[in-house]
Amino acid sequence: MKYVYVHWKHERAEEPSHLWYEIADDTFQNRTIEFYADGSVGFALRGEAADGSDDLEIGGTRNSTEGFPNVEEINSDREFEALEITAAEFNQQWRKALASPRHMTGFFTIAIDGPAGAGKGTLARRLADHYRLNLLDTGLTYRAVAHALIQHALPLDNVSAAETAARQVDMAKLDRAVLSAHAIGEAASKVAVYPTVRRILVEKQRAFARTPPGAVLDGRDIGTVVCPDADIKLYVTASAEVRAKRRLAEIESIGGTANFAEILADIVRRDERDMGRADSPLKPAADAHLLDTSEMAIEAAFLAAMAIVDDALARRNKA
Ligand code: C5P
Repeated sequence: MKYVYVHWKHERAEEPSHLWYEIADDTFQNRTIEFYADGSVGFALRGEAADGSDDLEIGGTRNSTEGFPNVEEINSDREFEALEITAAEFNQQWRKALASPRHMTGFFTIAIDGPAGAGKGTLARRLADHYRLNLLDTGLTYRAVAHALIQHALPLDNVSAAETAARQVDMAKLDRAVLSAHAIGEAASKVAVYPTVRRILVEKQRAFARTPPGAVLDGRDIGTVVCPDADIKLYVTASAEVRAKRRLAEIESIGGTANFAEILADIVRRDERDMGRADSPLKPAADAHLLDTSEMAIEAAFLAAMAIVDDALARRNKA
């Protein structure tokens, strides 16, 4: 696998300053070149080694220059080999990319917030599949912190242990099967009140969102705090009763039993904690589209969300 380092100062006026460029072919393997408003050029390796197919993409991004290693750092990693290409080679690839019918494929962020059980997880998965975006259920990151404390028999109000656990959260290893237990969700909402824990997780979530081609993130504070510049913000909600009924049906569908009144009480308590906390409370961003799924099947919610996204993409491609 090759890591291509490009330091080519682009001065062509017709090019917007926020662009990322990715090309994968047998010769150049897979690389990304990013241009920023300050004139600097970033670079990164994306995904696996190329399979030889022509795969060209250009899109806009609001990336910052954070997180890009320098060529020495890359060379010190034996998996990568840093190379430089000339401006002439770059120009040739650039023209090829512009000619690609897929050149409008770009960096895109969809932020989905809402209370527990409103259907945002399913909606996020459907949208990520449809638009071929990365997917992050940010609730899993808070759950991973709670799970680590429980595993070590530590109290949930041990803030410094929670911070350590937050730093150790590996975004590539969030195990839904382990973390989805009801009790872990409850515990997660307790560790989620600590601002220092949130700050550590939010940084990781933002780094995930910044990875091309973009992502769908769902949680409680995505549109308000994690990705305030998201292209699309959805706030998905449903009445507490409807959410409790869905949860009960879910538990029963896998052969479990539960008490409706208890589930409802849990949901109401979790809502209060998530909406009432001082740091990043659950609330719709001012520019969020509201989707109330109380009387809407998930398919209808998906179609409504798709119409919103398609409209934004059409406007962006015209701009
Ligand atoms: O969505 P999920 O039920 O997995 O989230 C568990 C808990 O994690 C939530 O009740 C909430 O307290 C916290 N959370 C959060 N911010 C997010 C996602 C989850 O505070 N972005």
